[in-house]
Formats: sequence, structure tokens, C-alpha cells
Amino acid sequence: TVEAAAVRAALLEHGHKPGALLPVLHHLQDELGYVPRAAVPQLADALNLSRAEVYGVLTFYHHFRSEPGGRHRVQVCRAESCRALGGEQLLAHVRERLGCPGADAGADGRFTVEPVYCLGLCASSPALAVDGRPYARMTPQRFERVLAQLAE
Ligand code: FES
Repeated sequence: TVEAAAVRAALLEHGHKPGALLPVLHHLQDELGYVPRAAVPQLADALNLSRAEVYGVLTFYHHFRSEPGGRHRVQVCRAESCRALGGEQLLAHVRERLGCPGADAGADGRFTVEPVYCLGLCASSPALAVDGRPYARMTPQRFERVLAQLAE
């Protein structure tokens, strides 16, 4: 499978280094867009760690997703300028509105929410991007309008 091939490649590239677990997890997240939970036993064996250790690291970092992402990707900026203008409240609102409290897609598989660090719109904060398209001076009301224009 694609997953198994990615796991092999990640271990081959990083497995021999000290502290290999995080680089391996990042490799998988970049390659697949998530870290398959089914890979935990294999990673533990290959890296001489317990399954609990691998699982602990995996769940500690919200960056790592355990399943493929939602059909739409919403990235909310958490960098300084947006933060100063309500970016954190915006992120909380978006998470709540879309039912995506963590890195995984919401129950309906429609959205994935990701914090990002600067979308280059600092002059018109707070900013977010939907499927790669950036929107400035975002408010809950404007976000509703963006959602209304999205395909399923
Ligand atoms: Fe948010 Fe730059 S700080 S876009």
C-alpha cells in the first residue's frame, strides 16, 4: 500500500538517526498528509521504542493527523499580527463552527482545520485560507459567506 511504502521510506531515511521518531512522523505527515495509526507497532519495533511511547508522541503534537484530511482545508493564522487582532478567537470559532477540535477532520469528513504561522496578510489581520485561497479581515460573519460558496 501507499501507507506501507511511505513508512518504509521514512524509516530508511531517518530510522538510523538518534531521536528518529519525530523526523519519521514528520516525513509521514508530509508524504501522506497524516500518520496512519496502524503504523505505530511497526515504528515502535523499528525504532526500539514501546508502542505507548510512539503513540504518546503522536497524540501530543496536534500537528499530526491520524487520518486523511477533510475535503476542505481551513488554515487559520496564529502569528503575531493576527493574534493581536483576534486570531485566536477566530481559530476557536472556526474549530467550533466546523466541528474540528483537533488536527483530524470533523465527523462528516468535510473540513480539516490547521493553525498556520503567517499567510502574508498581516496588514489585514486576522487572516485565514480555505483550500489555499487567503481571506483577510476575517470575522465569523464573513466566514459564513466563504462557507456558503464552497462546494460539498
Ligand atoms: Fe497572520 Fe501574517 S500574522 S497573516
